[in-house]
Amino acid sequence: MRISVCVGSSCHLKGSYDVIMGFKKLIEEHGVGDKVDLEASFCLGHCAEGVTIKIDDEIITGLTGQNVRKVFEERVLPEV
Ligand code: FES
Repeated sequence: MRISVCVGSSCHLKGSYDVIMGFKKLIEEHGVGDKVDLEASFCLGHCAEGVTIKIDDEIITGLTGQNVRKVFEERVLPEV
C-alpha cells in the first residue's frame, strides 16, 4: 500500500509535515513499514480541502495532525 501526502503549498501551510510525521510514527508503532510506503506528493488537486492524501488510488481530504490516527486505523490498518 502506498500513502502519498500532499506537500503542495496549500497543504504544506495546513500541516502536511504533522500528517507525514503522524503516519511515520503510526507505521513504526504498528510494525507495518514493510507493507506501507509513505511518500510526499505534489499537489493532488484538492487544495481547498487539504491536507490531502492518497491511499493507493483513493483521495482523502481534511487530514490533520489530530485525525491522522483515526484515518490510519480506519483506512490503512484493516488492509495491511
Ligand atoms: S496543495 Fe495539496 S491538494 Fe493542492
